[in-house]
Amino acid sequence: MASPEIKPFTLAIVGGGISGLVLALGLIKHKIPITIYESAAQFGEIGAGVGFEPNIVEVMERISPGIKQGYLRINKNLKTDPPKWFDVRISDRRKADAEGVVHIKDGKKFKLDEPVFVVLARKGDRGGVHRAHFLDELVKLLPDGITEFRKRLVDVTEATDGTSDAVLHFADGTTAQHTAVIGCDGIKSRTRELVLGDKEGRPVFSGKYAYRGLIPMKKAQEFMGETQSMTPQMYCGYQGHVLTFPIANGTIMNVVAFSTKEEWKDPEWVIKTSREDMLEDYKEWSQVVKNIMANMKNPDIWALFNHSPAQTFFQTKPRICLLGDAAHASTPHQGSGAGMCVEDAWILSELIADVDTANGLEKAFRAFDTVRRPRDIKLVETSRQAALLWEMEGPEGNDIDAFERNACSRMDWIWDHDNAADLEQARVLLRE
Ligand SMILES: Cc1cc2nc3c(=O)[nH]c(=O)nc-3n(C[C@H](O)[C@H](O)[C@H](O)COP(=O)(O)OP(=O)(O)OC[C@H]3O[C@@H](n4cnc5c(N)ncnc54)[C@H](O)[C@@H]3O)c2cc1C
Ligand SMILES: *[C@@H]1O[C@H](CO)[C@@H](O)[C@H](O)[C@H]1NC(C)=O
Repeated sequence: MASPEIKPFTLAIVGGGISGLVLALGLIKHKIPITIYESAAQFGEIGAGVGFEPNIVEVMERISPGIKQGYLRINKNLKTDPPKWFDVRISDRRKADAEGVVHIKDGKKFKLDEPVFVVLARKGDRGGVHRAHFLDELVKLLPDGITEFRKRLVDVTEATDGTSDAVLHFADGTTAQHTAVIGCDGIKSRTRELVLGDKEGRPVFSGKYAYRGLIPMKKAQEFMGETQSMTPQMYCGYQGHVLTFPIANGTIMNVVAFSTKEEWKDPEWVIKTSREDMLEDYKEWSQVVKNIMANMKNPDIWALFNHSPAQTFFQTKPRICLLGDAAHASTPHQGSGAGMCVEDAWILSELIADVDTANGLEKAFRAFDTVRRPRDIKLVETSRQAALLWEMEGPEGNDIDAFERNACSRMDWIWDHDNAADLEQARVLLRE
């Protein structure tokens, strides 16, 4: 299909997080007119880490070589050969015998905190970065004047001027009219509620929460040693696990420490915490884990919510398509939520580039939905199950051999996925 220079449609992207910005870059490449509406006063990410695997970095490059270059610039962490996703250690004293042994394999005894096995990663550019740094790299690539800040979307209606456009209504009383809306407004998405209804749209508590915080790498090296602090570690136990990995060129160690709770009653999902509460949750754990918890700077508690499977990612009256966390917010237990946002953004931007009419947009949304929804939803469900594995609550229980077999294969479908084939399949649907 030959595309005209400028499309006869304009798109509103609601939300300027990783999804909104990566999508914007994908669309700008094809000269598609867009405006980003962001509720905050400026772009911003939280002070925490996020990791990407080689298949995602490859998709970044397909969208724009600048995204990959930006990612690599802030990702100069220590690299191991072979690359590893995580060393897995058992660090809960309740799993150890009197000698401190947590597992015996082929006659070899593994003690508390020793690496029991390694989950290898795929070869290629990969690893953790500071979220705010990554967002900054994306912002650098955006042209000026395409973003409107302090625009909190409250509603979308269909235009009454015969165009069947979408009219966006913002909290400040202003409106904007576009051919379609792409909802990139995250887990608490308003666009999702509009597409799926208030009930199905709303996120549900996953039964897990996390302490998040950063430790200067110099400090972490003092109590963990160089290799352990500079490379990704997973410390597992009952109803909890602790992840550490380097970010910011290896100058900061990112910590996410998970714990379990039946219900989340606080209306806030991010709350301040005290060192005492944190240490209470890990009182049965090893000294290394206690040291990690004791050294986190300004830790917060994050309630981990996720979405029930959406019946659809789009509607046509008015035209709204959901992307990223707005479509399929997942728990972070497979470290792949943002990666799926990048995959989504590539596929949707390429499909939109292929069409030249408002009707074509609807077909692009449908093709996107058909190809992406099963994979995106599968991530949410398998991530939920992954927490049970890491915290010895799943079918494997505390059988570490079964745990290892599962851990070393469960990421394959995520990491080895052929996104180019997805796009091809979606393009076939588009031509039908
Ligand atoms: C603890 C934790 C660790 C994680 N680790 C990883 C990891 O290692 N690897 C990985 O791939 N993923 C990870 N994830 C998942 C990843 O963080 C998310 O999938 C990703 O950040 C979602 O990006 P998004 O742009 O879709 O949503 P968001 O980042 O939530 O962005 C939404 C944007 O929309 C704006 N907005 C919201 N409502 C409105 C409105 N009504 N009007 C206008 N604007 C609005 C917001 O201000 C925000 O800027 C992790 C998640 C958690 C919780
Ligand atoms: C990481 O290194 C790059 C140059 O290699 C530099 O531009 C960037 O500022 C560094 N970031 C941090 C947080 O050290």
